[in-house]
Amino acid sequence: MHDRHKLTLDAIRAAIDSEPNSQRAMESTVQLLARHLTDYTWTGIYLLEGNELCLGPFVGKPSPHTRIPLGRGICGAAAAEKATIIVDDVNADPRYLACSIETRSEIVVPIMAGDDVLGELDIDSDKVAAFGADDRELLEAVAALLAPKIAKPEDRRAAALPLES
Ligand code: SME
Repeated sequence: MHDRHKLTLDAIRAAIDSEPNSQRAMESTVQLLARHLTDYTWTGIYLLEGNELCLGPFVGKPSPHTRIPLGRGICGAAAAEKATIIVDDVNADPRYLACSIETRSEIVVPIMAGDDVLGELDIDSDKVAAFGADDRELLEAVAALLAPKIAKPEDRRAAALPLES
């Protein structure tokens, strides 16, 4: 990973480790991602409730997609496949659900507990092909840090919460 990504991971690890409250751990995570990595135009967390992904804390413009059924959009596809999806050009991907006209690329990383999807990290960029191996490595590490914090169902009641970076 590049230094910028390593520093971001260190900062998020420190924030998550020192935060017993799951909601605040998620809030700090999306804020630190947005603050450290300037290509990350929109950073958010969706939590799986039944068969729907429900928007939790996010930094960026409000999204019309506060509830996404499994299998719909890039978000629903990543949750259904239980795998990270990187889309270099969202306008060329028929699965894409638009959140902002400026968005050009997206990465979605499931937050897993064993074989169960708890939620996911969703990051958009206004740059084409903004996300590469470093971003995947960083965000998969962040998802692994968050998973134990939100493992209990009572820690995953999503309420769309817009935050300043
Ligand atoms: N683009 C996502 C929807 C969520 S917004 O980007 C915040 C998708 O295609 O699933």
